[in-house]
Amino acid sequence: MLRIGFIGWRGMVGSVLLSRMLEEKDFQDFEPIFFTTSNINGIGPDVGLDIPPLKDAFDIKLLSSMDIILTCQGGDYTKKVYPELRRHGWNGYWIDSASALRMNDDSIIVLDPVNRAVIDSGLSSGIKTYVGGNCTVSLMLMALSGLFASGHIEWISSMTYQAASGAGAKYMKELISQMAVLGDASRSLLDDPASTAIAIDEVVTKELRSNNFPAENFAVPLAGSLIAWIDSPMESGQTREEWKGSVETNKILQTMKPIPVDGVCVRVGAMRCHSQGLTIKLDMDMPLEEVSEVIEKGNQWVKLVPNDKESTLHSLTPAAVNSTLTIPVGRLRKMLMGPEYVAAFTVGDQLLWGAAEPIRRILNILIEQLS
Ligand code: HSE
Repeated sequence: MLRIGFIGWRGMVGSVLLSRMLEEKDFQDFEPIFFTTSNINGIGPDVGLDIPPLKDAFDIKLLSSMDIILTCQGGDYTKKVYPELRRHGWNGYWIDSASALRMNDDSIIVLDPVNRAVIDSGLSSGIKTYVGGNCTVSLMLMALSGLFASGHIEWISSMTYQAASGAGAKYMKELISQMAVLGDASRSLLDDPASTAIAIDEVVTKELRSNNFPAENFAVPLAGSLIAWIDSPMESGQTREEWKGSVETNKILQTMKPIPVDGVCVRVGAMRCHSQGLTIKLDMDMPLEEVSEVIEKGNQWVKLVPNDKESTLHSLTPAAVNSTLTIPVGRLRKMLMGPEYVAAFTVGDQLLWGAAEPIRRILNILIEQLS
């Protein structure tokens, strides 16, 4: 039976992954071994099986006895353990949600509804390292897989509205703490029907600018505001998040001629859904009905949202999409710039299709291949 080691299963992405695996009854026909960086011999998660106590996530010998290792532990762990394991001659499959190995020549970025052919050719040529993509990129590709497959995309500009979850669990908590402070400060005014919006705004602005405002993680307010910077600076003037748009899209699709993807990435006060406003430049004047049809047929999770107010308000929001696998695409229309320019808006759960789901699915693909 395949021996599969899980590391980082307790964190946010790891726990979403486990709950998806349980939901899909994935814990079958392999031997799961759960590792820990802090609680050796502790009790592992309840996956409906008898499992041994937690093992040391730095035990190279034990890790070397795994057929597959799946880690959601983060980049520092990967950078430390992965090279050591390979140096020791371990030739198993490494599945990773962190970005550390993404751009390596001998790794494949996995998003099988979009690049199953790339994955299959990697498997037959002996690639052993499979990495989840950047959430924003994966969600954009899930939304537009049909249009990418049509071969008519010349370039894309993506303006993002990224949720707190992309920054991490403590950022999500901080966002809600910030909201609570603003709510508490304006409570008496909110309760007074005679109070004005301007009076409430004064109270809110004072809180946002106060030195006591809870912002240890974001450094500045996100609630009642936004942050037009995600990740580190690049030479190009892009942020690393913006840089990933193009390099990862083209690596995932293994394009012959790179398709430029660029835009401004912005953090907003959503909890776990990233949204993106897209300008799509096609190489032809494709009728809008055809664009819609091609997008809708891209994969089974895409849901076309009619370009009307009612549908947009109810289906094209983080509130509607949170915790689901649905990828709504709406606001589709031709733009003033010309008949080859299409506008679209899409939303996707950053922790599901943006992180855990492609990892869960590559694990199943590997299990199927190896069994
Ligand atoms: N880097 C992304 C973000 C999340 O900050 O939202 C992970 O892909």
